[in-house]
Amino acid sequence: MSRVLNCIVANVVISVWDWLNKQNVVISVWDWLGKQNVVIMGRKTWFSIPERNRPLKNRINIVLSRELKKPPAGAHHLASDFRSALCLLDTAEMAERADQVWVIGGSSLYKEMMESQGTRRLFVTRILQQFKSDTFLPEINQDQYRLLPEFPGVPQDLQEEAGLQYRFEVYESIDQ
Ligand SMILES: NC(=O)c1ccc[n+]([C@@H]2O[C@H](COP(=O)([O-])OP(=O)(O)OC[C@H]3O[C@@H](n4cnc5c(N)ncnc54)[C@H](OP(=O)(O)O)[C@@H]3O)[C@@H](O)[C@H]2O)c1
Repeated sequence: MSRVLNCIVANVVISVWDWLNKQNVVISVWDWLGKQNVVIMGRKTWFSIPERNRPLKNRINIVLSRELKKPPAGAHHLASDFRSALCLLDTAEMAERADQVWVIGGSSLYKEMMESQGTRRLFVTRILQQFKSDTFLPEINQDQYRLLPEFPGVPQDLQEEAGLQYRFEVYESIDQ
């Protein structure tokens, strides 16, 4: 089944949990008519979420690993590659249950998602400050993605919290 793929990222590693909480503005945790959003993440992102907050609640949590043989405790599904993770969503049961699909990191998974086929949207929190980081979002190719002037539910104005200024940006893939 062809689905819109969404990715969500901030240009700073706060802790992934704080970051996910801040971005709940766009990543709905609602259980809408029995449907749930799907979050797909790499093994390190999964383990960077505090244990008490795993799995991310009211969402179907899929963890990617080439090494693990079974889903880490609390995760709903394990997949050995991105394609297999998406194939999990094609079963009749998942087609019924799964709503939006969100790729939530890390780097290699963002890259794979950004270079995959079909409609993709990138929800980026652009914090207006430089931080020392060791994990990065691949560059957004302006030939492949365009910055949307607005997106329903996403504030356009400058945000400020705890002395940090940031903006939400939504990019959409350009049909090639
Ligand atoms: N600021 C943000 O928006 C944001 C978002 C997400 C994460 N983060 C942070 O980024 C860090 C983790 O990111 P990361 O890039 O280092 O690691 P990651 O992608 O979360 O995890 C890497 C691991 O995931 C598995 N994996 C990734 N892609 C795969 C694929 N296509 N197929 C199969 N397995 C795959 C592999 O696990 P195995 O080694 O088990 O095979 C790989 O070693 C954490 O500190 C997290 O908090 C920040």
